[in-house]
Amino acid sequence: MKMTSEELRRIWLDYYKSKGHVDIGAVSLIGDGSTGVMFNVAGMQPLMPYLLGKKHPSGKTRLCNVQGCIRTIDIESVGDESHCTFFEMMGNWSLGDYFKKEKTAWTFELLTKKFGFDKDKIHSTVFEGNEKVPKDEETAKLLEGLGIKKEHIHFLPKEDNWWELEGTVGTPCGPDNEWFYPLKNGKLVEIGNDVYMQYEKTKDGYIPLKNKNVDTGFGLERCLVFLNGFKDVYQSDIFEKPIKILENACGKKYGEDEAYTRAMRIICDHSRTTVMLIGDIKGILPSNVGAGYILRRIMRRAVRYTKKINLSCDILLQVAETFIEKYKEGYPNLVEKRDFILSEIKKECDKFEKALADGEKEFNKVIAGIERHKQFAKPGEVVENVISGKAAFRLFDTFGFPIELTEELACEHGYSVDTEGYKKCFEEHQEKSKAPAGNFKGGLADDSEATTRLHTATHIMLAGLRKLFGTQIEQKGSNITPERLRFDFNFERKMTPEELKQVEDFVNKAIERAIPVERLEMTFKEAKEQGGYGVHKADENEKVSVYKIGDVDFQICGGPHAKNTSELHHFKIVKEESSSSGIRRIKAVLD
Ligand code: ALA
Repeated sequence: MKMTSEELRRIWLDYYKSKGHVDIGAVSLIGDGSTGVMFNVAGMQPLMPYLLGKKHPSGKTRLCNVQGCIRTIDIESVGDESHCTFFEMMGNWSLGDYFKKEKTAWTFELLTKKFGFDKDKIHSTVFEGNEKVPKDEETAKLLEGLGIKKEHIHFLPKEDNWWELEGTVGTPCGPDNEWFYPLKNGKLVEIGNDVYMQYEKTKDGYIPLKNKNVDTGFGLERCLVFLNGFKDVYQSDIFEKPIKILENACGKKYGEDEAYTRAMRIICDHSRTTVMLIGDIKGILPSNVGAGYILRRIMRRAVRYTKKINLSCDILLQVAETFIEKYKEGYPNLVEKRDFILSEIKKECDKFEKALADGEKEFNKVIAGIERHKQFAKPGEVVENVISGKAAFRLFDTFGFPIELTEELACEHGYSVDTEGYKKCFEEHQEKSKAPAGNFKGGLADDSEATTRLHTATHIMLAGLRKLFGTQIEQKGSNITPERLRFDFNFERKMTPEELKQVEDFVNKAIERAIPVERLEMTFKEAKEQGGYGVHKADENEKVSVYKIGDVDFQICGGPHAKNTSELHHFKIVKEESSSSGIRRIKAVLD
């Protein structure tokens, strides 16, 4: 191996540091909900406020990092040479600092001098312009000046050379310059791009940003392919151990058999994403809605592919362990949460095995029902061998049967599935289960007085839970309406009536003591040092707001809160139930 992932990360960061950038490190893979995107899909996502003009807490205008990203939109393509659901993006940014001239020169120098790419093989694409934004002649000229062949510089339309986060507003965007290099077989593959962020996307169009920014992202896994002359991303050091484990277990060499190779790739990719999502600082668990559903789908798809190559799904635990080990430096969280990650994988595998057995019985009933219908069909009535969308959705929703599995089984029985109907049912379901609070800050439905009081009650309740069970208890979800609070936290079992009473008493005592609620401002580091906690993560020197409720609670939080605990009157827990595996949910009111 000529270059490992560790070496490449180092080269990237060292190069941009030598050009005056600071390494800002990586953030959580789970989106904060502010842009409506579930996962962090690009390195620029956490930098949104700064690309829109806010001063970066580091005080610097040149930033770089290596940031994990999750993209599941192409999940069906995973199994080919280059698609991954988790990947690392090597990034660097100019916040109103340098622009096209410097950026083209640096990308070119990095590729040709540090990576050793042949300049005659590089292809580059630029924006051809439209009625709103002019053709990017400037970048094309700069590229030509650097020595890229003129016939390798291509002008392409907005579909190809414009970068923005789909489905968002109030986000920065602009024309981009994409860099391509040929695989061994000559196929050109994009390895990264320089986005010239000059606009803010609004509801109706684009408005120019005051400062022109650069947003660069290069795929670490893809770059490793070119740097090492690999055929695909799975030949890199990242996947060396897991592929060995799979080869040994199934007795086939990677690359020897197409179906086995594809299965090994899917198992590796999905296991890595699973480890990263469960082990993330804002870790999520498999469930049937939102981000949890995406994780469940990934995990269950991995299980199915172990079965396809006749392996027990326990192999996933061994594969997962290799990633915890491999990423321990960049993601120390994974090591800390090692046992938790592995036990959650085991739990989901067991659940899915049981679901498969129950679901298969249910599936057979569906088929038997259609067959009976055929027998008793009225004259002239045609009963097709089609499983309805509704039945397929029930198999999914009640039995955890992924649609792909229903389709496969249907095919074995000479049946097909109404996948359009299924999609409709699925979308209706997802729509229904969206939190009514939308994306209001901190899970608050509004900032009415009633909601604000319940928000303060939530803080005191969490302090009570932590006092009772320990400080490993964290907020895993919060949704507050004027009527009630709903709070999810990590805890393994049902709470006893005595424990619920203890928490209630804790809150009511704090209310009786009429403690003032103070809002303080300090750096994230200071807040942490003084025992501040909370879901909010920030850079060390970023100013955060902290709410102090006497000696009861000290939480990093954006508010709003009541002024004094006496405003809360009386606190009552109305329900304690399971939210998902390992997560409990409390609903409570103030009366
Ligand atoms: N934001 C750009 C991308 O994700 C760099 O490709």
